Amino acid sequence: MPTVQACLFDLDGVIVDTAKYHYLAWRQLANQLGFDLTLEQNELLKGISRMESLDIVLGIGGVQLDEEEKSKLAAEKNVRYLELCKQITPDDALPGVRGFLDELRADAIKVGLGSASKNARTILTNLDMLTYFDTIVDGNRVTKGKPDPQVFLMGAEDLSVAPEHCIVFEDAVAGIQSGNAAGMLTIGIGEQSVLNEADIVIKGFDGVSVDDLFEKLT
Ligand code: BG6
Ligand code: MG
Repeated sequence: MPTVQACLFDLDGVIVDTAKYHYLAWRQLANQLGFDLTLEQNELLKGISRMESLDIVLGIGGVQLDEEEKSKLAAEKNVRYLELCKQITPDDALPGVRGFLDELRADAIKVGLGSASKNARTILTNLDMLTYFDTIVDGNRVTKGKPDPQVFLMGAEDLSVAPEHCIVFEDAVAGIQSGNAAGMLTIGIGEQSVLNEADIVIKGFDGVSVDDLFEKLT
């Protein structure tokens, strides 16, 4: 394995469990339009941009709208989502994440964020974790969503690290595909059965040390 010089983290589902808030906000939108959204269907939205997610949700309900109506609904969903995110505090970082990031920094490994979310900075501020990241690539910067590799390639470039020296941490299939397409090693956070395209899959960071994890990749 090439030396690891940078670790690039997805936000939602890797650093913090915001999927439950996205789900509540999308479900409310679906209900408003006269249909329901199951937790299983919500899986399809992980890692996918807001507007693409909206298209998927509308597709599930068989609803067709023009661009203006879609923008309005996406904005409404985001207001609801941000309202829910106000309850996020530093204690909401997923178990072990903070310690893992501390260890990376102590090992002089650069840390970047690669998220589809336009709310990434707000969420990191609520978590009081902005300072952990040497660069933040979020939904405001990318023009191509995951599984396109753009988000992680931008992060690597910001950090002046070649892709083969980067590791991507992702909980979404589209995110693992994005990291793989960028030519990076990928670590899935979640279930092996779902994230089987990742180089390795772990359940989370609780009890996981940087050295032990990197050893598994060799
Ligand atoms: C991703 C989430 O991180 O960000 C998706 O996994 C979400 O569920 C996407 O749709 C965009 O987020 P936001 O905050 O810009 O609506
Ligand atoms: Mg995610």
